[in-house]
Amino acid sequence: MKQLNDVSSLRRAVRGLSGRVALVPTMGNLHEGHLTLVRRAREVADAVVVSIFVNPMQFDRKEDLEAYPRTLEQDKAQLAAEEVDLVFTPTVEAIYPVSMDVHTRVEVPGLSDIFCGASRPGHFVGVATIVCKLFNMVQPHCALFGKKDFQQLLIIRRMVRDLAMPVEIIGVDTVREADGLAMSSRNNYLDEAQRARAPALYAALTRTADALREGRRDFARLEDEATRMIAEAGLKPDYFGIRRAADLAEPGQDDTSLVILGAAYLGLARLIDNLELELG
Ligand code: PAF
Repeated sequence: MKQLNDVSSLRRAVRGLSGRVALVPTMGNLHEGHLTLVRRAREVADAVVVSIFVNPMQFDRKEDLEAYPRTLEQDKAQLAAEEVDLVFTPTVEAIYPVSMDVHTRVEVPGLSDIFCGASRPGHFVGVATIVCKLFNMVQPHCALFGKKDFQQLLIIRRMVRDLAMPVEIIGVDTVREADGLAMSSRNNYLDEAQRARAPALYAALTRTADALREGRRDFARLEDEATRMIAEAGLKPDYFGIRRAADLAEPGQDDTSLVILGAAYLGLARLIDNLELELG
């Protein structure tokens, strides 16, 4: 596995790869969820490139950026074991040669301002901008993203469609701990007592999904019940919404492809999760 830190050596190395190239963009601190993306990338492509870059533009608070777990040596060992071809580990200067304040930005309006975008202003502009840059740097045939960040995945799909980017976007199912908690680098912030309470978010999602499958369509009431359930478990709810899976719009009574999205604060962590639901 080759490690590259600057854009010109990355480009040279990518030119040396043959066949279909997959990109897995990450911010490091890799867990089983990331490794699942890498294994899927291996199935759908001939060569796999993984980027590790803690992107300052997508953090709305400087403290979060500084506290974000960085475990590069461990990450590289895991990627080498998965036989990744290239790992791109750029410095902030390599990605943002000019100050971020005057750097070109990519914005996907509408979808970026709700849910996680409402709680973290500017976050999705940072995500869309870095993903666009990584696509331009690597020029992959396809790129893989986890469905845990469902809103992020929709925003990236929309960006690719709107800007006619020649990259196939592949969403990969969320990997969960045995008790249902979605794997996330942010789970590292939880102490033992908080970790025991954390599955309440997934429990609220599954309870809501069951109620919808049983025929309930009182969406606002279901959202209130779930929010209460999350708060009673000792988490601080951020949002909980039942939406159309295609565009996160409010669902009508006859919509059948839905997604339930939730986020809650627990200690230093902000947990997010979602469940897609196909009603018969
Ligand atoms: O999902 C993430 O880890 C990040 O938002 C991404 C897509 C790597 C962009 O920095």
